Amino acid sequence: MKDISLMNSLQQVTSEENLISVHNSYDFSFNVEQTQGIFNLDNMAIAKYCRGRKCIVCISPRIKKLYFTEIQTYFSRHFPDASYQIEEIRTGEANKNLETVEKVCELSKAFSLDRRGLLIAIGGGILMDIVGFAASMYKRKIDYLRIPTTLLGQIDAGIGIKTGVNFKGSKNFIGSFYPPIGVINDIELLKSLDKTDILCGLSEIIKMAIIVDQSLFQKIEDHHRLLIDSNFQFDVLLGKEVNHLAILRMLEQLTTNFYEKDLERLVDFGHSFSPFIEQYSNFSIPHGIAVAMDMAISTEIAYLTGKIGESDRVRVYKLLLSIGLNIFDESTYHANLMWKSLNDIVLHRGGDLNLVIPFGIGQSGFIKKIEEINITILDRAINNLKSFQNELRSPE
Ligand SMILES: NC(=O)c1ccc[n+]([C@@H]2O[C@H](COP(=O)([O-])OP(=O)(O)OC[C@H]3O[C@@H](n4cnc5c(N)ncnc54)[C@H](O)[C@@H]3O)[C@@H](O)[C@H]2O)c1
Repeated sequence: MKDISLMNSLQQVTSEENLISVHNSYDFSFNVEQTQGIFNLDNMAIAKYCRGRKCIVCISPRIKKLYFTEIQTYFSRHFPDASYQIEEIRTGEANKNLETVEKVCELSKAFSLDRRGLLIAIGGGILMDIVGFAASMYKRKIDYLRIPTTLLGQIDAGIGIKTGVNFKGSKNFIGSFYPPIGVINDIELLKSLDKTDILCGLSEIIKMAIIVDQSLFQKIEDHHRLLIDSNFQFDVLLGKEVNHLAILRMLEQLTTNFYEKDLERLVDFGHSFSPFIEQYSNFSIPHGIAVAMDMAISTEIAYLTGKIGESDRVRVYKLLLSIGLNIFDESTYHANLMWKSLNDIVLHRGGDLNLVIPFGIGQSGFIKKIEEINITILDRAINNLKSFQNELRSPE
């Protein structure tokens, strides 16, 4: 794997085979480290962060079921009993709330975690967000370490600096910008993930590929079957490389705009129609799947407004469909309602639409103003996607 680095006067992301470092003009830096056999007793990736401090290891119920013995053995081998505690934290979107954050703070207080203490989150994106938010408030902030165990967590939720929980029916409504002291990824942990969770993560990887990295797109085109069927395990080098590139591309985008002062964010590709799709389906369509549908709608709008060519547009749809993702969905693709939700999004984006669209594979930009498109274009996009999906899915 080649070394990759990005640098300007404000920030720097450097990358080696198993390590990506983020440095910037803000007051933090952290590493996103790739390891293997994270709970092996001779693997010091976790232990090096915990020396000389009390730790609470927060694990999700699923991780408890799958890895409790290994985690317990790892900590008991490296640290005295009195210095750490392993706690199960309830997860799921319904538990991603202030009450659960309070629970983490309560446990920390009961364990007398002081300002040098460390919270460790081992679980999916939901646990990362809950524990990160608790860490940003407990005793006005203490360190936390992220060990994401889902693909989406490893390439997205685990690597930015956002934390937060749902509030009064709105997703991620309350939270903070608070960087972790480190992120440790082990793709072996993905072996137990459900296929839907693999697809959700892969959809976000494809997002990064379409907006900025043609070679990553090509890699997924060539190897998606292997990656999906084996949960990224069949060829560990390939799995690690795809994971690594997706993280690097994401961090390159985030590092100039960690605090989201700039509302023109290419990483918002797939995130304009997906909130409506998720909500209208009563969240039966998971986030990553909705993102894939949104990417298709945005790509078709790009095509209809002359911003992307025929062959690149077809490559996007063929990849999404061959992975098993839908580009059309009868139950949620309602032009009127989607158009209304797009107008609501404009209010949240400071009066601008900033719809991210691809200009080609690995190139992207924005439709900045809602006046540049209209409901007829959206309606045509939906109909075209329906025809395309029917054509490609119909038996020869
Ligand atoms: N903070 C951010 O920047 C950011 C970015 C993207 C998403 N998010 C948030 O992340 C959340 C989604 O994350 P997610 O997709 O990881 O969801 P999740 O945390 O709910 O995990 C998905 C499922 O995978 C299971 N799981 C976790 N690890 C496993 C493993 N190793 N083996 C088997 N099963 C495992 C979980 O129990 C759960 O059922 C959302 O709440 C979203 O808002 C945050």
